Formats: sequence, structure tokens, C-alpha cells
Amino acid sequence: MPDIKIGDVLEGVVFDFASGGEGVMKIDRFPVFVPFAIKGEMVRAKVTFVKKDCAFGELVEVVIPSEDRVKPVCPYFGRCGGCDLQHMSAEYQLLLKRYTVQNALQKIAGAHADVPIPIAGKALAYRNKFAAPFAYNQKSGRVSLGFFERRSHKVVPVKWCPVCGEWSGDLIGALTDWANECKISVYDENTGKGLLRHAVARNLDSLCLTLVINGDEIPHKDRLVALLKEKFEEFCIFASPNKKNTNVIFGDEVKLVYGENRRQNLGKFDAEASPKSFLQVNAEIMDKIYDRVAEALEDFDGEVVELYSGIGLLTAQLALRLPRAKICAVEIEPSATKDARDLARRLKLEDRVECVCADATEFMQNRKAGAKEALVLDPPRKGCDRRVLQAAIEAGFERIVYVSCNPQTLARDAAILLESYDLKDVQPFDMFAQTAEIETVCVFDKIAKTEV
Ligand SMILES: C[S@@+](CC[C@H](N)C(=O)[O-])C[C@H]1O[C@@H](n2cnc3c(N)ncnc32)[C@H](O)[C@@H]1O
Repeated sequence: MPDIKIGDVLEGVVFDFASGGEGVMKIDRFPVFVPFAIKGEMVRAKVTFVKKDCAFGELVEVVIPSEDRVKPVCPYFGRCGGCDLQHMSAEYQLLLKRYTVQNALQKIAGAHADVPIPIAGKALAYRNKFAAPFAYNQKSGRVSLGFFERRSHKVVPVKWCPVCGEWSGDLIGALTDWANECKISVYDENTGKGLLRHAVARNLDSLCLTLVINGDEIPHKDRLVALLKEKFEEFCIFASPNKKNTNVIFGDEVKLVYGENRRQNLGKFDAEASPKSFLQVNAEIMDKIYDRVAEALEDFDGEVVELYSGIGLLTAQLALRLPRAKICAVEIEPSATKDARDLARRLKLEDRVECVCADATEFMQNRKAGAKEALVLDPPRKGCDRRVLQAAIEAGFERIVYVSCNPQTLARDAAILLESYDLKDVQPFDMFAQTAEIETVCVFDKIAKTEV
């Protein structure tokens, strides 16, 4: 290990990318990770952290820039921990994401898949969800909203977010005007005092705002409604009391305190989504992913088990595209399961769609395998529990379609499946432009046993 200390400024050529989109340079064969540096660039970086096998640095100067470097659109880029790749052109971001998926599948799962360029949509103003903590500045005495700095609990106040679009500025303006005018206190995690914790909003056909509070009631609600009315035609407000000292955003309960949480157009259907239910943040790409999953199962005439099914949008699409299939959709969040049941009922699909509220692992361990079945998996970032995959292999599902938002856990899970399955198809989707995140759909087919 070379003699590298915190504070040293190192100069080198970036020779690779890490899984989070950071550039990697080597100093005497010792890897140094530098966020916002691009492969091929000569950079100078100040060391911020040193471990036994690598170090981390902060970009100080780009000595020789890449042709793919661009000026970030957002004034907060680099400080706000939300985006990782605004310093790269949109085309180059896609190349990097293809590399991330291909590299993870190859290194972790040993799969030599030919990964195509991600299918992309809008690069900005695509995000329908805004979730941000409130912050209070002692010096100015002002309340703000913002995003956490990278790997920190320090809030970077923002006036808008280009990845969400203009509506985020309207919302932040209304909420901070309300909090400052009405002198509403902000929650302090050190003392446990103060009211406002998080604002979480979805903006589809109309706005659905949830205020997470360290209390029971939203004060000066009429003033908040008046300020929101200046910017939003239609909206509803939920309160979610959360009095625990925890990183979990929502409290146990969400209660509607203004307006109606009405159905929203979500791609091919109008559907209801409770504030605590998961909803894909990019509706354009969500639709493309659901189409891909349906296509992968179109020639399949058996039954489908869908794990991690959320509010049942993919479930409904599969039921409509596969008119003979029965679908069993499993989701752990009760409000999401209720939304899924309501959608299936409204689309008159109840005879072919069963929505089960259960933990995917328990469900898989307790069910009897059917004759001819396919499995759809769309787990959270941490991927599938190993026991889910083992149960799937034992049950002998003929086809598994895996929708992943994390190439690292996808590859870990693929390594388990590849003992019994062939990887037939891989397609990444750029659900989260400007960030290093990437969604991938993989199709696995059971390896036929050959008679000896
Ligand atoms: C990535 S989302 C996918 C949702 C849905 N497929 C969609 O496209 O909207 C993952 C979902 O898995 C659910 N979930 C998380 N852990 C689970 C578990 N152990 N068992 C069942 N569902 C779970 C979450 O509540 C969330 O709705």
C-alpha cells in the first residue's frame, strides 16, 4: 500500500468506473475512488478516506477532461446526494449503465451476457415523486427543504429539483412559505423536539402530499391549502404522525386531512395508490418495463406467480395481456395489496387475479408447486431472500422474469438461479436518469434435464 493520507492531493488517470458511477484511478496499483470523474480523464483528487484496500477522494480539478463531460443542469449537483451523473452526456450515461449491468453479471454471476444499451425516456423532469426532509437554519431562522448530502445527515436546501421538474419548485415554495410564515418548528433528531420531519409527494394527474410530523395535527392547515391552491389545481394532503427516533420516513398511519386521494392515470390504467404504497417513479419507463415482462410471458400458457407486486399495475397488465393465465400476486404492504385488489376488481379480473398480502419468503416456503408455472420477481434494492430463490428452483418454475433496480443484487441472485436456469435475455431500462441507478429485466428459462 502506498503512503496515502487524508488530505493528500493525488493526480492520476481514471481507468475504470465503480458500481456507483465513481471514477477509479490507481496510485501505485492502489485504487482510489473519485466521484464525478470520468474514465479516461486526468484528474486531481483530495483524499477523504483511506481503507486497507482502497481510498476515496474528492474531485479537486479535471486536468484533461473527457469529451463526454457536460455542464450539470442542476445548481445543487455535487453537493446534493440525489444525482451522480449530471457531469456526463445523456448518451454516455447509458453506455456507463450498460457497462455496470454487464460487469456485475459477469463478475458476480459469471454470466457473459451481451447487454444492450438501456431503453431510455426523458433525461429530466421525469420523476413523479419528491421526498425531502425539512431543515432549520439557526443563523437565518428560516425553514427549508432539501436533500441529504452524500453519506450524511446534513441537508442541502434546494429551491427545486430538475429531475422532478417545475412542480417541485412550486411545492417547495408553498411548503417553506407556510412553515416560515406560520413559524412551524422543524424536528431535530438530536433532541426529539420540533414538528416537521419530511414532505413526501407524488405528482401525477394531481398532487398527493404527505407531511410526516412529530405530532398529531398539521397546524395552520388553511394557510397551507391556500398557498398550494396558488400553484396546484387539484391536490390532497395526508398527515403521517411519526414520533419515533428512526430513519424510517413514514409513521405507522397516514390520515387524509384535505381533499381526496383520487385515481391517477398510471400508464395503461387509472389506479389508486395510497401514500405508503410503492409506485415506480418514472411512469414512461415503468410502462416499457411492464410491456417487456408481458412480452417475455406471452408464449407461456401456464400460471404466473408474481412476488413483490406493489399496487398491482404489472399484475393487471399481465392479466390483460395473457388472457388464459391465472396470476397470484404477493405483496407485503397491506395498503398496496388493497389498492391491487381494488384495481383487479375494477378491471373485472378477480376470477384470474388473486392478491395475497404476505412476506414473499414465507409465501414461497408454504405453497405447493403447480404443474406449469412462471415466476415474476420485482424485489426492492436488496434483492430476493435466498430462500425465495431456493424455493423457486425446487418448485421448478419454467420461466423466471426478474425485474431489478440494483445490478449488484440482481447478479448475486442470478448466480443462484444459473445453477438451474439459462439467462435468455437481459434488457436495462433507464428509470433513474442522472443517477447511477439502473433497472434491468432478465429472463431465465429452466434448463431441460437430458436423459442419459
Ligand atoms: C420494487 S417494488 C415493485 C412493486 C411493483 N412490482 C411495481 O412495479 O410497482 C417492490 C415491492 O416489494 C414489496 N416488498 C418488500 N419486501 C417484501 C417482502 N418481503 N415480501 C413481499 N413484498 C415485499 C414492497 O412493498 C414493494 O411494493
